[in-house]
Amino acid sequence: MSRRDQLLSLACLLSLSEWTLCLEAPETRGLCVSQYEERNGAWLSMSGAMSVYVQANHRPEWYWQEVFERRGLPDRGVLGDEDSRVDRLSGEAQGQILGCGVHGGRYWEIQMYYQRLYDLAPKSMRTKILKAFAESSGANRPRSGEELPPSMRVTLCIPAECDKPMIRETIIPRFFAPKHVGLEPYEAKDALQNALDVNELADWSDINIDFVIGGVFFCGTTSLHRNLDKHPELAFSSPEEDYFITAQMAHRLLPLKSDVAAFNQQLEAAKDAKAQATGHRPHLVGIRNPMIFHLPLARHKIARITKAKMILILCDPLGRLEKAFMFHLYCFQGNLAEAKQQGLASNFTFLGSPRDDTCFDSASVLLTERDGELKSFWQHAEVAVHVPNLAQLFRGRMMVVHQEQLRRIPKNVFASLAHFLKVSPELIPSSTRHNSIGGHRTDLCHNMTLVRALHRRLQREYDMQAQLMKTDKVTVSRLRTTRCSEIDQAKATFCPNAECA
Ligand SMILES: *[C@@H]1O[C@H](CO)[C@@H](O)[C@H](O)[C@H]1NC(C)=O
Ligand SMILES: *[C@@H]1O[C@H](CO)[C@@H](O)[C@H](O)[C@H]1NC(C)=O
Repeated sequence: MSRRDQLLSLACLLSLSEWTLCLEAPETRGLCVSQYEERNGAWLSMSGAMSVYVQANHRPEWYWQEVFERRGLPDRGVLGDEDSRVDRLSGEAQGQILGCGVHGGRYWEIQMYYQRLYDLAPKSMRTKILKAFAESSGANRPRSGEELPPSMRVTLCIPAECDKPMIRETIIPRFFAPKHVGLEPYEAKDALQNALDVNELADWSDINIDFVIGGVFFCGTTSLHRNLDKHPELAFSSPEEDYFITAQMAHRLLPLKSDVAAFNQQLEAAKDAKAQATGHRPHLVGIRNPMIFHLPLARHKIARITKAKMILILCDPLGRLEKAFMFHLYCFQGNLAEAKQQGLASNFTFLGSPRDDTCFDSASVLLTERDGELKSFWQHAEVAVHVPNLAQLFRGRMMVVHQEQLRRIPKNVFASLAHFLKVSPELIPSSTRHNSIGGHRTDLCHNMTLVRALHRRLQREYDMQAQLMKTDKVTVSRLRTTRCSEIDQAKATFCPNAECA
């Protein structure tokens, strides 16, 4: 026990001190505090990574410049695109949490609610809070509590001996409160505790996902999911799309340990449910979220789950564009409400759609508004631009299938998938289609001039597919033709939101 701790214990014994330290078992507290104190510089050097990311375009450029400068992260002249930004920030976060663990620490996220602290603190201490905030953040001194930021988040590597109550009641008051909020450990204790959130962080690879159907939306991800789900050795987190990564964890560079535990429990429950239903406990569990492929942060997170394999399904770019148009932008000759009922039109707005209530009478706007009103729609529909990045992130653990292969040679495709996932190929299920709408969906295929012009605009997408298929040894015969040349209205499938008969 250090001399300081001896004095503290004595003070506690004599009830001379009001410190919350006195409430804890002195041995454990002693170990936590002495470990922290003895190697303070080391713990701090493994602290401070960003744990939550704000989308680049929600912040001005100077903000990012400062973020990267302060972190001493490699400056590549220009800050680079979203991918490189996300890569560096999540790389830093990942590096710190791993380093922290290796050196006997655990990684924590501390959120300090400045305004709440200011409001709860005794009046006599408020000036100190404003002053300390200005000094520790380098900002101008706020004139009132309202000028304080509502909250601030920091990450800290802290010795593994320290648990959550010790961090809240000892580490923060003793080592951080004096500098950052101007309060001595015995001052405004209740206010500080009420203005503090402390949560342990986890590493993405703590998430027990084995595989991901990560795209491409409007290319048959639902069919692929339903068919793979028939395999007794595979389970899915949910019968529907899984939003854990893209919504619940949308802005996180590191997940909270509690969220990871809850999600892993859900994955185990999915396996249990399948075991109940089939009498065979699946050994792999996956998720389907067809948006992951085009979200830089989401695909980085999945890539950090080192065992997770990525499955991507592609389809005819023009057919896909038409489907997206039909689903989100087509007026259906004034029968939009009916089309929504039938599941032909979406009840939700597509990310890139111009406005909530806009619809168009003809698919020709895809061409005429390509760089106008539908510019953002086209951008959100792009696939090719994301594929090189995915291929790099998931080198050796990504499989791309084409919807056309799945229709022509389903057995071969599922055998390849089984091989890729390392499950028994002899248990390949029969394949069915879901949510398929054949025949004329919009007026597109009635106008071959338009079809050819759009086809040219999608050249990059066709080229990317040809490139991929070349390396994959599997050929897709129809790659360069479009669905319009093969429409057989009499035999067309029609099963929106359902399994086709
Ligand atoms: C849209 O909502 C209607 C009515 O609630 C429903 O019948 C229809 O299936 C929904 N469409 C889709 C595509 O989910
Ligand atoms: C077919 O599409 C082209 C290109 O968008 C357009 O100029 C032409 O008017 C369309 N033809 C008909 C009959 O709609």
